[in-house]
Amino acid sequence: MALVSEIRSTTPFEGQKPGTSGLRKKVKEFMEKHYTENFVQCILDSLGDKLEGSTLVVGGDGRYFSKQAINIIIRIAAANKVAKLIIGQIGILSTPAVSSLIRNHKVLGGIVLTASHNPGGIHNDFGIKYNCENGGPAPTQFTDDVYERTKTIKEYRICPELDCEFHEVGTQTFQVDGRQFVVEVIDSTVDYVNLMKDIFDFGKLRSLIQGTETREPFNVLMDSMNGVTGVYVRKIFLEELHSGQDSCRRIIPLDNFGEIHPDPNLTYAKELVDKVKENQKIQLGAAFDGDGDRNMIIGQNAFFVTPSDSLAVIANNLNCIPYFEKNGVCGFARSMPTGAAVDRVAAALNKEMFIVPTGWKFFGNLMDAGRLSLCGEESFGTGSDHIREKDGIWAVLAWLSIVEHKKMSVEEILQEHWKLYGRNYFTRYDYEECESDGANKMVEHLEKLLEDGSLIKKEFVVDGKKFVVKAADNFSYTDPIDKSFTKNQGIRIIFEDDSRLIFRLSGTGSSGATIRLYADSYERENVTGDAQTMLKPIISVALQVSKLEEFTGRKEPTVIT
Ligand code: G6P
Ligand code: ZN
Repeated sequence: MALVSEIRSTTPFEGQKPGTSGLRKKVKEFMEKHYTENFVQCILDSLGDKLEGSTLVVGGDGRYFSKQAINIIIRIAAANKVAKLIIGQIGILSTPAVSSLIRNHKVLGGIVLTASHNPGGIHNDFGIKYNCENGGPAPTQFTDDVYERTKTIKEYRICPELDCEFHEVGTQTFQVDGRQFVVEVIDSTVDYVNLMKDIFDFGKLRSLIQGTETREPFNVLMDSMNGVTGVYVRKIFLEELHSGQDSCRRIIPLDNFGEIHPDPNLTYAKELVDKVKENQKIQLGAAFDGDGDRNMIIGQNAFFVTPSDSLAVIANNLNCIPYFEKNGVCGFARSMPTGAAVDRVAAALNKEMFIVPTGWKFFGNLMDAGRLSLCGEESFGTGSDHIREKDGIWAVLAWLSIVEHKKMSVEEILQEHWKLYGRNYFTRYDYEECESDGANKMVEHLEKLLEDGSLIKKEFVVDGKKFVVKAADNFSYTDPIDKSFTKNQGIRIIFEDDSRLIFRLSGTGSSGATIRLYADSYERENVTGDAQTMLKPIISVALQVSKLEEFTGRKEPTVIT
C-alpha cells in the first residue's frame, strides 16, 4: 500500500530539556497531544543531512508508554525520510544492547525509550534518549541543539496511516511518499549475548557456576528488578551458564516494574540483600536497573561492594577477561564524585587515568580515541570500551571471571585489594525530591563560600577528628579529545588529608531537586572498618558547611549508599 505523510502544526512545550541522560518526564506529560511527536521531530531535525536514507535502532526497557512511543517514532521516522528502523521485539532492548546494535550494524544512531532507574507505570516516568553513531549517549552540543529546537517547533512530519506491528521478528517494507521504508524487528538478545560470548570465556564461567570435580558449584542470585535485563539474564544465566531456576528473580519485564523503584542499591534492592542474607549458600548477588546499564554486586552474606571499589578491582584484574587479553588495556576513567580507588590501580599499573563529569557520555570520546578501556561511576555504573554505555550484565560477568580465576570469594578479593592499595571509604547521601528553591539556595550558599575564599584553611573538628580545607572549587572539565568545556559539575571540598566532600544536584530526576552528597576518605592501614562509621565525622562537616538542613528542612537522607 502506498502511504503518504503529512505535515502537522504544533506549538512548543516548555521544559523539553534533556538531562544527564535524555528527556525524562512523567508519563502523563509524554501523553499530552504532540508532546512526544515534538521531541522526536526535534531529535530527527538535529541530525540534519545525515537523516535522509539513514538507519536507526529503536527500543527500550519496556516501561509504560513504550509501545505508543515506538508507534509515534515509526510514523515520524518514515515521514522524515529515514530508510530503516531496527526495533527490538516488543520494543525491548536494554541500553547496553542498543549501544552494541548501533556499533555492530554501523548505523546512524538509536532512540532509547527509558527513564533508566526511575519508577515506571502510568503515574511515573518515561524517557527518550538519543545515542550516536559510536553507540554512546549524544553529547551536550547535540542535546542542547535538540532543546533549542523544542522551543520554536512549529510543525512535525508524520505518516499517520502507517501501522506496523513489532511483536514478531521479521522484516516489513512500506512505501511512504514513493520511497521504501523498512522496519526490521529483531530478537532482543542475540546480538548482545554474542558480544558477551566474545568478551568472556563462557566455558570457564559455566564450570565455575556448575562446579567441577575439584570445585563446588558457585551459587549466584541475579535480580532483574522486573526490568529489561530479565530477558538477557534468562538467556545468559539460565540457558548458557545453566545456573538453575533459583539463580534468577524478577526476570519478567513489567511495564511498571511491579511498582518498585528499579534502582540497584542497598535501599531499593533490599529484597535481594535480604534474600542473600537469608541464604548463606549464595556467593554472589547482583541487581540491575530498569534498562540494564546499572549494577550492584554483593558477596556472601550480602557483603556490599561499592561501585567505586568494584571498578578498582576489575581494573586490577583485567587479565582474567579474554577481551582485554586480546585487545590490550589503555587508560582508566571515573566520574569526579566516584571514589578514587581506581586511581591507585592506574598509578600502580602505569595507565592513564581520566576524571570526567558525571554522565557516561563523557567517556565516549576517550574510548573512540583509543585512550580508555575501563571506566565506572559511583552511581552503580561499570563498563568498558566494548560498547559506549555502562553495562550491568557485563559487570557481573567480569566479577565472575575474576572469582573463577582467583578462586577467592567476593569478600576475600576486596580484602586482598584493600591490603594492597589501602581503602577509599566512600558513601553517598541522597536527599530526593527536595523543594527546588531550597536546593538551589544551598548551592548558591556553597558557591558564595567558594567565591569569597573563606573555606580555604578553615578547620573543623568532629569527634576529635580534625579537617582542614586544602582546596575547594566547582568542578569543570575540558574534554582532552574535542576540547569541549563543561562547567558547574559539582562543588568539591578537599581536605589536607585528601579526603573529599562533593555536592551536586542530580540531573536525572523528573520532579523537584535531588541533592547528592558524596564523601571519600582514604586509609592506608585501617581498611576493615564500617564505611558509615568511618565517614560519620566528614559527613557532619558536610552538613555544617552546606547548612543542608536549614535550606531543605531535611534531617535525614532518603537513600544512603
Ligand atoms: C545516568 C547516567 C550516569 C550518571 C547518572 C547520574 O545514570 O547514565 O552516567 O552517573 O545518570 O545521575 P544523577 O542523578 O546523579 O545526575
Ligand atoms: Zn539505567
